[in-house]
Amino acid sequence: MRNTIISMYQPSHLSSLLPKMQSIVESATQNLPTSEHEDITFSDLSLKLATDVIGQAAFGFDFGLTKERSLNDSYNAQNDVEVEDFIKQHMYSTTTLKMDLSGSFSIILGLICPILRHPFQQILKRVPGTTDWKVDQTNRKLMSRLDQIVEKRAKDKDRGSKDFLSLILNARESQKGLKNVFTSDYISALAYEHLLAGSATTSFTISSILYLVASHLEVETKLTKEIDDFGGHDLMPTTHDLQHNFPYLDQVVKEAMRFYTVSPLVAREASKQVEIGGYVLPKGTWIWLALGVLAKDPKYFADPNKFKPERFDPTCEEDKKRHPYAHIPFGIGPRQCIGIKFSIQEIKLTLIHLYRRYLFRHSPNMEEPLALEYGIVLNFKYGVKLKVIKRST
Ligand code: HEM
Repeated sequence: MRNTIISMYQPSHLSSLLPKMQSIVESATQNLPTSEHEDITFSDLSLKLATDVIGQAAFGFDFGLTKERSLNDSYNAQNDVEVEDFIKQHMYSTTTLKMDLSGSFSIILGLICPILRHPFQQILKRVPGTTDWKVDQTNRKLMSRLDQIVEKRAKDKDRGSKDFLSLILNARESQKGLKNVFTSDYISALAYEHLLAGSATTSFTISSILYLVASHLEVETKLTKEIDDFGGHDLMPTTHDLQHNFPYLDQVVKEAMRFYTVSPLVAREASKQVEIGGYVLPKGTWIWLALGVLAKDPKYFADPNKFKPERFDPTCEEDKKRHPYAHIPFGIGPRQCIGIKFSIQEIKLTLIHLYRRYLFRHSPNMEEPLALEYGIVLNFKYGVKLKVIKRST
């Protein structure tokens, strides 16, 4: 089953997704406010952008979160309210998955006594006003929206095979035995997993890059030169270009993902007794791998609190000497992230579009140092607020 899903995010399929990605990125980024009196909370925009992109790739569905709204367009007031409601619920569900003392009571309890988490969550989600209740209500609303999309697509006989949802539905219809595995509930749950896994992570990474580059002007100069040298605004990079013809952009993305590791922890459960580093771990032990800590280990990254994309230059000594598993922001092994190439393509494409037109500076309303929230994924506590400068090129 993982193979059916993975094929969706492989290079062969990525190039067919590029035009759609391009048009969403274009529409989201073409008219940013450039007045010196105005700020933009870029992290909100990037979450909308990443949600629209995954909406198209995973569901073939246009959430329309980044569409320009004018009084004359086809979006009526009711649609606007629904879209706003959807994004609020989506943001709420991505930001309340916290694993510290500001999370829901059941999660806090689970940190102290894991066995109590599930029974308490079942009780608390029935108590109006509790965070567990609010999270449950929000998840139900989002799931019901996704259920509607799945149901509609299941009935569509001309659905094609461009998006994840159609691919799964096609597999279910063509292979005997899959009907019992790919039930409608299961498909909705998978689609929801992709929406969550693919939007908050990519969106955070794009915003963190803009934030970091805005305060490292030498990086900005090198990056914009590479992007400008590639060609004019009309020359759209192909999947191959994005993978091979932007070496410095590649380094900037890797370094930003090291600097702010969006998925700071990944978990595994020992399927049998195992010995690691002299410790015997019985079957069933939960093992947490702290990717965020690894990313700041001076053994692998000299001066780790410095933002220095050149440390990922494949010709430099630091990069050559580094252990291949020291930089693993997408996890590792058979359960590694399936969206690596997809998200890197989206991140690079978005940055090329943005830096062709604009430069960014921290808004005076941006706190210093940056305040982060540690949840299941990292998030900005107050958002990334930027001033946008229109480039003259
Ligand atoms: C910057 C972007 C992203 C980052 C940093 C990221 C990171 C991760 C990490 C650390 C894991 C856990 C891996 C492990 O346990 O070893 C993961 C799993 C996963 N990611 Fe991503 N991810 C990103 C984007 C995406 C996108 C765009 C999608 C979907 C299109 C996606 C779908 C998934 C799924 C489905 C899993 C679960 C895989 C499994 O359990 O087999 N991710 N991701």
